[in-house]
Amino acid sequence: MSKMKYLFHGDFVTAHPEPGELSVYENAYALVCGGVLEEITLVKPAIGDDVIEIDYQGKLIIPAFSDVHLHAVQYVTTGLGYDKELLPWLTDYTFPEEARFADRDYAARVFTDLVHDLWSCGTLHSSIFSSVNTDATVLLGKMLVEAGLSAFVGKVNMDRNGGVDLEETTEESVHETIRYLDLMAPLEDYGVKPILTPRFAPSCTPELMHQLGQLSVERGLPVQSHANENLDEIDWVKRLFPDSRDYISVYHDFNLLPTGKTVMAHCIYNTDAELEMMHECDVLIAHCPASNANIASGIMPSAYMLGKGLRIGLGSDIGGGNRLFMGHHVSAAMKQSRLRWALTDRASRILNFAEAFWMGTAAGGSLFGKTGVLIPGYAFDALVIDDRHLSRYRPLDVLERLQRFIFVGDERHIVARYCNGEFLSEPGTMVK
Ligand code: GUN
Ligand code: FE
Repeated sequence: MSKMKYLFHGDFVTAHPEPGELSVYENAYALVCGGVLEEITLVKPAIGDDVIEIDYQGKLIIPAFSDVHLHAVQYVTTGLGYDKELLPWLTDYTFPEEARFADRDYAARVFTDLVHDLWSCGTLHSSIFSSVNTDATVLLGKMLVEAGLSAFVGKVNMDRNGGVDLEETTEESVHETIRYLDLMAPLEDYGVKPILTPRFAPSCTPELMHQLGQLSVERGLPVQSHANENLDEIDWVKRLFPDSRDYISVYHDFNLLPTGKTVMAHCIYNTDAELEMMHECDVLIAHCPASNANIASGIMPSAYMLGKGLRIGLGSDIGGGNRLFMGHHVSAAMKQSRLRWALTDRASRILNFAEAFWMGTAAGGSLFGKTGVLIPGYAFDALVIDDRHLSRYRPLDVLERLQRFIFVGDERHIVARYCNGEFLSEPGTMVK
């Protein structure tokens, strides 16, 4: 970690660790020491010669985005097959594509673009599914380290229902997972960590789930998977796991909901008992609104779930979702909450902008430690937005400027990215 001290000058907006109002500091100063934000003040503090001043006056400075659910190996097929539902979409488009990542050169080409584009979009933290292929997964981990991005990267486990090209035997799946854990160990010091990734219950036999659960317990490993995304999928899980109470219990029954270390994608159709179980296990739910619309999965009752105290981050779910830029998903989360309110119960709770922004920054960031908010004691992981073009017609206040950036802007408005207080260069352009 850098020992440098910096004083940033600009217009800051941040959520807080808990959902609520956003804080705005217009024309303010942020003092960053050793990568950590010390204070934000409206009056310029007295500083010594050892502090470097960085002038972003007139620009927005916001916490970096966290994408807590995406599939690196679906980057190429993003946008394809959105006239299908989940299960045929997986079989027809996704599984055949993922099998191609046994080819190292193909994997390297795709991951080079993906890592670059994560950087470009200001997604400095992500929780990623790779494929079943260990070597491709470790390659992705190394490329993320090179780019200075933080991530959980999972080798996918699937020993059934994946088709001949993708499926592993149970023994291969466990053996390869242990090999992957060994190969990932050196990357942990650089912020790229392994995460157990049983694809979803229908892809894993009870024996594989059992062995992965044991690994999670023995080594304290985090887990990511999918649940309650699509009605046909949920019926299938009931038939495959008749002894479990419900879908979330399948993971719980196999020790695959480690407390505070689980990311569960989608979670659209949950019973109250499942919500309670996820709350107890402090699961981070990855809400993937774009994907849920594209493959007609449904609309998550996000506002209701927030009201129950659940921790909900946002996932692009590339390639079920069609944009990497997390502003798109912040706005999609709001749109879907509003549609659900309009089509179901107009007396129900509705997501507001501050909550949606919180999901894409603070809540997602909570998976990665003290990041995702611009408050003292947290890492200064931040994006600088030049939004002059978006507010050129008439003056807007800082919160309105943030809304314009999220709903109308995109990665072209991000002019600088900082990770632990240090400027993050474009991948591939770093001087070695
Ligand atoms: N469930 C199991 N695998 C997948 C996947 O790749 N994408 C989505 N959206 N859901 C899944
Ligand atoms: Fe997914």
